[in-house]
Amino acid sequence: MNRIAARSVAGALRHGRNFNRHISTTPVAARTLDTADYLNRQNATAFGSFYSSRMMSSVTPSFQTPPPPAEKDQKESSASDAKKDAVVSHYWGIKRPEIKREDGSEWPWNCFMPWETYQADLSIDLSKHHVPKTFLDKVAYRTVKLLRIPTDIFFQRRYGCRAMMLETVAAVPGMVGGMLLHLRSLRKFQQSGGWIKALLEEAENERMHLMTMVELVKPAWYERLLVLTVQGVFFNAFFVLYMISPKLAHRVVGYLEEEAIHSYTEYLKDIDGGKIENVPAPAIAIDYWRLPKDATLKDVITVIRADEAHHRDVNHFASDIHYQGKELREAPAPVGYH
Ligand SMILES: [Fe+2]
Ligand SMILES: [Fe+2]
Repeated sequence: MNRIAARSVAGALRHGRNFNRHISTTPVAARTLDTADYLNRQNATAFGSFYSSRMMSSVTPSFQTPPPPAEKDQKESSASDAKKDAVVSHYWGIKRPEIKREDGSEWPWNCFMPWETYQADLSIDLSKHHVPKTFLDKVAYRTVKLLRIPTDIFFQRRYGCRAMMLETVAAVPGMVGGMLLHLRSLRKFQQSGGWIKALLEEAENERMHLMTMVELVKPAWYERLLVLTVQGVFFNAFFVLYMISPKLAHRVVGYLEEEAIHSYTEYLKDIDGGKIENVPAPAIAIDYWRLPKDATLKDVITVIRADEAHHRDVNHFASDIHYQGKELREAPAPVGYH
């Protein structure tokens, strides 16, 4: 593991890769993107040539190293490669195409692309609650309420830290559910009805919450240790739970999301009350949620809370499908539901 890390750092240094640019907090120019327009334009330009040349070509790839360029070409090529600040391999044919924002500035992120960004639906009802009626619902509800006790004691009103830590857990269920549905699809020779994608999207969305929170709160060493422990326990526990009862697993997540909405509401109260400074939004959040360039922490927490409300609905809906004795693939999957 250390050898791999050392090799990757050495490689990055060799190629002049700048790690910081992916976690830069420098504000970036804001813009409102229409996804369809953006995709059309990108497809017509960079992505058209990139993907069509890879996926539609009928020419058998030769997998030979191209002949070395002339000396002048070599100089120009290395200068331009350095300018692009990226590792380029002509041998494998993998190269990041030019991606620009609508205002023409360069897209700074490799971890997500413009067509994965969105404007959060803030009109969602935050007060919705699934009243526990069945025995399993009550088990799910009580479990989540019990889990909240140590969380309240440990974090109290340190909502930044609390949110960051909880997002490390929140990004697990979607990945576990998506993975198990993926394996089921392979075993049963069946389509998943889009639910694999929907659950993996949820996991990715939660991970973006974490990537945003970590720009605002730097975890201490003992918090990293806590995350390691909690992840080890929670991943395995949720994996087993989902295998035994996906109905209960989704209900637990539904209630966890209800708690997340509550926590972020308290967070917003502390920002409004001046207990937490309303600092400028991190650059990653401005691009991911298409926020104005002068967006603040309050704007970020507001859109994250709206995401949590969507996750709440998706998971309670998934549990309801199972309660009706059906499989998830029999109901429309909420793909792209934010
Ligand atoms: Fe989240
Ligand atoms: Fe969530």
